[in-house]
Amino acid sequence: MEEHASDLSNGFQSSSPSGNDEGSQSQPKQSTLPNGLRKSGRKHQDYIKISVPEPKNRLPLEWWKTGIAFVYALFNLVLTTVMITVVHERVPAKETSPPLPDKFFDYVGRVEWAFSISEINGMILVGLWCCQWLFLRYKSIAARRFFFIMGTLYLYRCMTMYVTTLPVPGMHMKCAPKLHGDSQAKLQRILRLISGGGLSITGSHILCGDFLYSGHTVMLTLTYLFIKEYSPRRFWWYHLLCWLLSAVGVVCILVGHEHYTVDVVIAYYITTRLFWWYHTMANIQTLRSSPQNYLSRSWWNPVFRFFEKNVQTQFGSGDLVCKMNYGAFSNFPPGPKPWPVVGNFAFLLIPDWVLKKINADDEGEITKKKVKQPAILSPHVMLTDLAKIYGNIYSIFCGNRPMVILNGYETVRDALVNHAEEFSDRPTIPTITIITKRKGIVFAPYGQVWRQQRRFSHSTLRHFGLGKLSLEPCILEEFQFVKKEFLQHSGGNGGAFDPSLTISNAVSNIICSMSFGRRFDYQDQEFKTLLGLMSRGLEISVNSKAILINICSWLYYLPFDPFKELRKVETDITAFLKGIIAQHRDSLDPANPRDFIDMYLLETSRQQQQGKLDSSFSEDYLFYIIGDLFIAGTDTTTNTLLWSLLYMCLNPDVQEKVQAEIDQVVGPDRTLSLTDKASMPFTEATIMEVQRMTVVVPLSIPHMASETTLFQGYTIPKGTLIVPNLWSVHRDPSVWENPDEFNPYRFLDENRQMLKKEAFIPFGIGRRVCMGEQLAKMELFLMFANLMKSFIFKLPEGSAKPSMDGRFGLTLAPHTFNVCVSLR
Ligand code: HEM
Repeated sequence: MEEHASDLSNGFQSSSPSGNDEGSQSQPKQSTLPNGLRKSGRKHQDYIKISVPEPKNRLPLEWWKTGIAFVYALFNLVLTTVMITVVHERVPAKETSPPLPDKFFDYVGRVEWAFSISEINGMILVGLWCCQWLFLRYKSIAARRFFFIMGTLYLYRCMTMYVTTLPVPGMHMKCAPKLHGDSQAKLQRILRLISGGGLSITGSHILCGDFLYSGHTVMLTLTYLFIKEYSPRRFWWYHLLCWLLSAVGVVCILVGHEHYTVDVVIAYYITTRLFWWYHTMANIQTLRSSPQNYLSRSWWNPVFRFFEKNVQTQFGSGDLVCKMNYGAFSNFPPGPKPWPVVGNFAFLLIPDWVLKKINADDEGEITKKKVKQPAILSPHVMLTDLAKIYGNIYSIFCGNRPMVILNGYETVRDALVNHAEEFSDRPTIPTITIITKRKGIVFAPYGQVWRQQRRFSHSTLRHFGLGKLSLEPCILEEFQFVKKEFLQHSGGNGGAFDPSLTISNAVSNIICSMSFGRRFDYQDQEFKTLLGLMSRGLEISVNSKAILINICSWLYYLPFDPFKELRKVETDITAFLKGIIAQHRDSLDPANPRDFIDMYLLETSRQQQQGKLDSSFSEDYLFYIIGDLFIAGTDTTTNTLLWSLLYMCLNPDVQEKVQAEIDQVVGPDRTLSLTDKASMPFTEATIMEVQRMTVVVPLSIPHMASETTLFQGYTIPKGTLIVPNLWSVHRDPSVWENPDEFNPYRFLDENRQMLKKEAFIPFGIGRRVCMGEQLAKMELFLMFANLMKSFIFKLPEGSAKPSMDGRFGLTLAPHTFNVCVSLR
């Protein structure tokens, strides 16, 4: 009953006997549909979602307005050159009117080449802005804003220049001779100034008088502001580079003594104010119509309204940003700054010897395992800690790939249950895709094929006993083998031993019995090696330099470890599973299917006979499904059982209470059965508390946003990788009292009955919830309770307490530990 309730809490109903449960679970309720539609909906339960492409341009481009802004800017630029020519005639000779005093110049001597640096920086910034502009989604709008602001700044420049004529700022200035009334020569000067861009390095800037305020500062500042505003926020390194170019350029104007300090300050002030003023009004839609908006009292507000009338963006100028849909990143969740190329995974470039040093234990010794694969800091703990800085929803980047980390129960539930349609897809992760080809169940994209395959697999596993008492004998038989192994070590004659191989053999034998129809002997060397390879493969894929494959997929083919090792893992597992499928094909008896593989092969030929051309059932697909069951069903349950044993060793009082409960309910002679579970709340609470504390799949399996989604105020662009941080859910202090404390009583009420805890989600939540939840619960209860019934577990006398951090490799495994067992 409790199990059923918890299934429902995870967003999934218990399976229907017909096995058609998976599809119906994933469909939204259709009760609001009209009758006709409801009928056809029933007939075609697996609807195909047609994605409607977003219109290329949501906002009107209005290039003609951009043309007007361009003419306005051009006019003011030409007017400025005319004004300089006019003012030049009025500048007093430096011999009679020497430069005005300037505090900066008093302290810093003139550097001759500094002004050239300033001009070069300015040209680079203009070039970068032009290149960047080519990638913009709404080129016309950005260009219109640039031309208008630049034009206005130059208009102000003309006016200030005309009304105030300053003497030259330095005696080094070489002004061209005055022309007095020679209009033709003046015209030639204007043309020369325009053709040379008004730059000294082109030799066109020979006129004096354009001191109030600095045109160079205007361009250096303006281009930087536009570059920053119209590029993705995460390109912080690009922004930093441009800022440096701009800042160095401005300082060089002063170091070259080409403008008074006040010229630069005024130019900087007016440029930034005008830019910010304009963009505040452009980006905050509500401000435009607000009567309290004093910004709208500027003389140019009517022009602003004319240009911006139809630019109604949701997220400000970020919305206009990039063709590659970078616009959505303007409202992307915050997070640590990513580096170019590697994103936030720069630590992968840390050499092994440094990591080895970090991993050296207190005595400076390095264990064999650590030397082989230096573990990176526990990612689940690190990601949970980052939530304290950035909040429950934040982002990181793996190379160029955005990832959103969801922390805390409310956030994870909101995403995976309330936004299930948008967040149930799986991402293409090169390390995984190369191996799984996006087939099977676990990493299959969310859609019709996944739904068909999951539904078939679930109902077939139920056929073989999943969630039913009929599977109990299989698990109990496997337990007897475990008991026999442990007995060899019990009673002091065997001493301490590592239980991991026996437990992992037993757990995978249960899934093998259902899938392959056979179990493997614990001494079977080939099988032992395979289990080792499997957990090593998972570990390498997510917690070694092999993650770099996700940034550069060709790294997978490198001829050294860990890449070489990963390839070997893949080849060996493939050979093993393909061999088993081939054996089944050769010995298939359609009247008497023995296991999952037989059932799948029969379904495949049935669909072929029916001529279903679009059927996803094939021998090739079967290989990936078996791989999924084998991998998803072994490491997870094995690690949970190992953690349980470790926790019992470290909490002997809890172990005794579990044993007392078993003795009271089952007694010494009777075999413990699933039917006893309801009468053993403390044992169940203990298993759940181990699962809460250890969260064996701490970062779940990555999800992906299948469409751009507004989630809790943030925009999550299509294709973003979503990581539900289950570790953070189980350690959330707002949900769990003293979350780091092992306390099974938190799952019991005052009458010692099971308490339902919504935030307990070790199997995930939503449409992608673990398919093997019922099987895992059966295995955990029967194995754990029977082990407790038969043995007392202790750590070897005098041994140090093992580390409880765990080894992360998609699943969280305990560090290798030894136990001593004695028969009860
Ligand atoms: C204690 C044991 C187990 C734990 C803690 C566990 C946990 C999980 C978690 C967290 C997920 C990801 C959910 C998500 O993406 O949101 C998952 C998926 C999955 N699990 Fe388990 N699991 C366990 C045992 C098993 C077993 C025994 C099987 C074998 C039948 C299994 C088969 C799967 C499959 C096929 C999926 C992918 C579901 C999908 O993508 O539709 N798991 N599991």
